[in-house]
Amino acid sequence: MIKEKGNMARFEKDFLLGAATAAHQVEGNNTNSDNWAQEQMQHSSFAEPSGIACDHYNRYAEDIALMAKAGLNAYRFSVEWARIEPEEGVFSEKETAHYRDVIRCCKENGLEPIVTLHHFTSPVWLIRKGGWEADTAPTDFARYARYIAEQLGGELNYICTINEANMGIQIAAVARQIFQQMVAAGKVQVGVNLEDLMKGNPLLAQENMNAFGTEKPATFVSPRTVHGDEIVMQAHAAARKAIRETAPHIQVGWTLSLHDVQAVPGGEEKAKEEWEREFTHYLPIMAEDDFLGVQNYSRTIIGPNGSLPVPEGKEKTQMDYEYYPEGIAHVLRRVAKDFHGDLIVTENGIATADDSRRVAFIDTATQGVADCMAEDLPVRGYLYWSLLDNFEWQKGYAMTFGLVGVDRATQKRFPKESLYALGRLRQ
Ligand code: BGC
Repeated sequence: MIKEKGNMARFEKDFLLGAATAAHQVEGNNTNSDNWAQEQMQHSSFAEPSGIACDHYNRYAEDIALMAKAGLNAYRFSVEWARIEPEEGVFSEKETAHYRDVIRCCKENGLEPIVTLHHFTSPVWLIRKGGWEADTAPTDFARYARYIAEQLGGELNYICTINEANMGIQIAAVARQIFQQMVAAGKVQVGVNLEDLMKGNPLLAQENMNAFGTEKPATFVSPRTVHGDEIVMQAHAAARKAIRETAPHIQVGWTLSLHDVQAVPGGEEKAKEEWEREFTHYLPIMAEDDFLGVQNYSRTIIGPNGSLPVPEGKEKTQMDYEYYPEGIAHVLRRVAKDFHGDLIVTENGIATADDSRRVAFIDTATQGVADCMAEDLPVRGYLYWSLLDNFEWQKGYAMTFGLVGVDRATQKRFPKESLYALGRLRQ
């Protein structure tokens, strides 16, 4: 599987080497989704709306050809639930045909399509029903998963059910830590209700009420309760069952956002709790999965009171976290101790305006992946995040993760050196 160290072509031909995107971040006009609604709000916390994004909905063929030309052989993208099922129980044949075309285009270009069913965005109707805290969500999600497996499953070998299933729990934990630090720093009086503090702008709450029938919509990235975490696990298990009943040849897994959690003396207990929250408590639900999608961007250093700032003098990415390409190998080794299916790096990347830092990041990260494979870890692929400079959620278009730049006025593509450097890593 793996080539000798130091060889530029680090991976064998059958290793899945490619790039990843998500529908909402690149396609444009995802008008039936919760995110779209929140971006349009007058008091929105989004830096800017997604608009036509990278117009990938219309330009996917050009983008896929760029990957193929660079030597990549896999493309991870998401199928948008809000397009496929814009109203509850109503499935769009037109949108299904669109994704069938995207899958065909991948194949014609020699790329393995790796499809994610849910990547953060949900149909508005789901959120109006209580979103990712509602007991009905697993059944709704499984019905959609079954539909995709029936319609497109014959063309697919890999499905990721849910992207970063642990994201809502991480966001809830970060919100708690910020609050605790504010209390410790004397910035808030003890006794302030966290719920009230986090409620934020009442005008935005009203806008949410208008759009979703609730001031606090349970979108996928809203701070999640323990009950919501259970719902997400049930949704994954129900979707996996639906896919296996319909298209048993497909390898199924989900993806997790996994920090390289490191403790400084005194932080061991907290670091253990963090890893338990991010990873370990999901092991029972993942036990039947074929693979785990591992997603890592940096490390988190934990002290006695929780995560610490980036160490003085360390390089930061545009996202303000530490440049730390070693993280992916650390996380792969750690998860492989407890998860026994295949591992696919479904996201790893850097937001930077300096592409030479991206080339360096990819070099170090993939050397780490190759080292893991030399140690016999079952790593089957590496998918860089992201193919394009795209819509980075609340931060808008300022973060540039792409292997390919996009002039948003003309939608012209500008492949960067990093695209070709990545492509050269495979024989
Ligand atoms: C998400 C992507 C996001 C990326 C970079 C991951 O958490 O899956 O949608 O753009 O990180 O922040």
